[in-house]
Amino acid sequence: MLVGDSPAARRLHDEIAGAARTHAKVLIVGETGVGKEVVARRIHAQSARRDAPFVAVNCSGIAETLLESELFGHARGSFTGADRDTVGLLRQANRGTLFLDELGEMSARMQAILLRFTETGEIQPVGADRPAGRVDVRLITATNRDLPAQIAAGAFRQDLYYRLNVIQIVVPPLRDRAEDILPLVRHYLERAGAAHRLAVPGIHPDAAQLLIAYAWPGNVRELKNITERLVLAEPDGAITPDHLPSEIREARATLPPLSLAAPGAPPPAPPAAVSRAPAPPTVMDAALSEHGLDRVASLWNRMAAGEDFWSVVYAAFKARELTRTELAAIIDRGLHTTGGSYTMLLKVFNLPPADYKRFHAFLYQQECNLPVALYRKRKAGRTRRVA
Ligand SMILES: Nc1ncnc2c1ncn2[C@@H]1O[C@H](COP(=O)(O)OP(=O)(O)O)[C@@H](O)[C@H]1O
Ligand SMILES: [Mg+2]
Repeated sequence: MLVGDSPAARRLHDEIAGAARTHAKVLIVGETGVGKEVVARRIHAQSARRDAPFVAVNCSGIAETLLESELFGHARGSFTGADRDTVGLLRQANRGTLFLDELGEMSARMQAILLRFTETGEIQPVGADRPAGRVDVRLITATNRDLPAQIAAGAFRQDLYYRLNVIQIVVPPLRDRAEDILPLVRHYLERAGAAHRLAVPGIHPDAAQLLIAYAWPGNVRELKNITERLVLAEPDGAITPDHLPSEIREARATLPPLSLAAPGAPPPAPPAAVSRAPAPPTVMDAALSEHGLDRVASLWNRMAAGEDFWSVVYAAFKARELTRTELAAIIDRGLHTTGGSYTMLLKVFNLPPADYKRFHAFLYQQECNLPVALYRKRKAGRTRRVA
């Protein structure tokens, strides 16, 4: 099950379908916990090999000699304790798919053995006098390492890389597909609720905001673990910021200090329509120098006149003509104008909807992704669920 409907997740679905139509080798790259194994399993399940086995092997944390005999099998008496012939995993995966995870951890000798296998398709069991025939196995490999860098450093064989990297699928980190965070949280809340026969809690908007702002260094694996713990904590109705682990609650602390002053001021009601008129000065403006205020106003007015965010604000920021606080002040004004909607903010800044991801990534990178909860009119009741 591959949860997610972000543009990145949809691209991934297309790439999986494309890979499943062929028998070519696939190299899946991405940070730990992003779902590389899920992708490998989906490719197998959608391919013509789906009725044959999918065998997964992790190349890290397994001794090199053991890995060789795991993969290729061994002859009786080939080493102490080898009291009978064994069939290796490659044979077990015949007509199916072998998934080699953490490829970047493979020793030089194992790389040479794997290269030979990709060239001949022959199985050479450990300690056997002759090859034990060929197998028909599709290889899918995965790594969180930068293999080209490892090749440059002499730690990975370039010829093996070329062999394995026929189709490459990049699984982006969760922070680069923030739209997938809440669907994943809901998915795993429901799963954990069903598994433990516990009520499935809702997500309070303030908690949702923190979950989205958090960088998720452990990606989906981390999200899954945290979500499961949330269900077991049996929150009353909805998950609030208090239920979240401190590293997520502190996601807010990484925002510019100015935005933290905002909750004190009553957030204005969202306007009925998006207005192009200069937004009223906000609390954030108070921290800007007179010069900074002028700069913010001038850039704002250029966007109000029809120029887009990239050529006005982004360009000024990249040219170091705009400080991060001033950038935050512009976003702050914009969110006041749109009542906290980033989608509408794109329109205000003259950007097409397709730029959403890039826009959000930029704000995220600069820690200017101000939490929308600060700009929304608060509804009564603590347990409103995010739609
Ligand atoms: N898109 C997704 N939808 C649902 N679960 C996912 C998704 N991506 C990853 N997971 C879950 O996250 C965990 C880590 O995924 P895994 O494929 O093992 O990551 P990796 O191999 O990249 O470290 C697994 O429990 C997996 O089921
Ligand atoms: Mg893995």
